[in-house]
Amino acid sequence: MKNLLNLLLIAALFSACNGSSEKKHADSDGATTKKTAMNKLSGQAIKVRDYVPDDMVFAHRGSTYWTPEETEASLRWARNIGADYLEFDLQKTKDGFLIALHDSNLSRTSNVREVFPERADSAAIYFTLKELRQLDIGSWFNGANPDRARKAYAGLKILTFKDVIKIAEGYRLKKGKDGLPEKEIKDGEWTGFYIYEKDPQDNGNRPGLYAETKKPDCEKLIAKELTETGWNINKNSKTIKTTPGKIGLANTNGRFILQTFSPESAIKLEALLPNIPKCLLLWQPEMKDDLKGNYQKAIDFCIKNNVHFIGSSIAGPPNNYKELNAPWMVDMVHGAGLKIHAYTFDTWEQFKTYGKKVDGAFTNRSDIALEFYGRKSEKSAEDILKELGY
Ligand code: G3P
Ligand code: CA
Repeated sequence: MKNLLNLLLIAALFSACNGSSEKKHADSDGATTKKTAMNKLSGQAIKVRDYVPDDMVFAHRGSTYWTPEETEASLRWARNIGADYLEFDLQKTKDGFLIALHDSNLSRTSNVREVFPERADSAAIYFTLKELRQLDIGSWFNGANPDRARKAYAGLKILTFKDVIKIAEGYRLKKGKDGLPEKEIKDGEWTGFYIYEKDPQDNGNRPGLYAETKKPDCEKLIAKELTETGWNINKNSKTIKTTPGKIGLANTNGRFILQTFSPESAIKLEALLPNIPKCLLLWQPEMKDDLKGNYQKAIDFCIKNNVHFIGSSIAGPPNNYKELNAPWMVDMVHGAGLKIHAYTFDTWEQFKTYGKKVDGAFTNRSDIALEFYGRKSEKSAEDILKELGY
C-alpha cells in the first residue's frame, strides 16, 4: 500500500527525533537503568488540537461504499448525510493544479486505458488538468459494484481542490443542457475549471475538510489555494454562513485538517500552515520490527513538530489492516496529549470495538458512523443519493 521510499523516510525521520523519551536514572542500589519519560503536547498544540471536537465522522474519500470515491457524488452525499468532515487525497497535475485522487495513477478508478492507452499506467502528475477532465471516474464503480451501481455515476469528472471546497460550501458543478459540466472560459479558452452553482439539494450542512498529502509534494500549493479560497484560518480567513442544527465545522478554527503518512510532509505543512490541526498517519508494516519503540518515536515526532492526531489503523474485515489501536497503544497516544483519528471503519462491529476508544473515525459508512454516535440521519443513505439525482 505505501511505497518503499516513504518507509525509508519514516525510519530516518523517526530515528532522528527520538531523543526525548529515554533518560538514564540511578537506582537506590546505584545501578543505572533506563526510564521512559513521557513528553506531552504543548499547551498551544493542545489548543489547536481542541479546534477539532471528539467523536468526529470523517467521510473517507466521501464514501467508497455507496459511491465512486472522491467524486462529486461521494462528497455531496457525505455533506448531505451529515458527516463532520469530507476526507480526500491531494495530488498535483502536470500543469500545477491540485486534484482529489487517492492512487498515484488513474488505472483503478477511471477509463484512462480507453482514453490514453499509451499512458494508462502513468502517474497523474504526467497529465494536464484538461486531460484528466476527459476521464470518466464513475463507471468503474458500477462495474466493480453491480449491487450499488447507478447510471448517474457514469461520466463523473475528476475534481480539483477548489471543486471540493465549493461542494463543502454548498455548491455543485453547473451542468449544461447536454448534462456535462459548463466550462469556465477565459480569453476564449477553457481554463480546465467548471462553473459552480448553488446546489439545489444543499441541506445546509457545512462540513470541514480533511486533506491528505500524497506524492508528489504539494504542500506549497495547498497553502496557496487554502489562502485564496478563504479557508486558511491564519490569513485571509472568510466567514462561511452556517445554520443552527446543521453541521457547521466549516466556520470554525477546525475547518481544515491536514494528514499525511510522511513525516517530511508533516514538517513542511507545519512550516507553511502553523496552528492548523494535523494528523500523522501510521502504517503498521513499517513499524513492526519494534512496534512499541516505533510507536513511541511517532508520538515523540508529533510532539516535537506540533502534530495533534495519530491516524492509526483498526483491525477487522473487510480491510483486515494490522492492529494499531490495541489498548496499550491508545493509552500511549492519549497519555501524550494526542488524540486518535482511526482508519478505516466499514462495519457496525468495528464501531462497537473501537468507536468509543478513539476520537474520530475515517469511514466509508458515514451512515453507520452517525447512527453509532447517536446522530442518525433522518434520511437513508439511498434516499439521499436519489434526492441528489443519482
Ligand atoms: O486518510 C485516512 C486513511 O484512510 C488513509 O488511508 O490509503 O485511504 O488514504 P488511505
Ligand atoms: Ca486518505
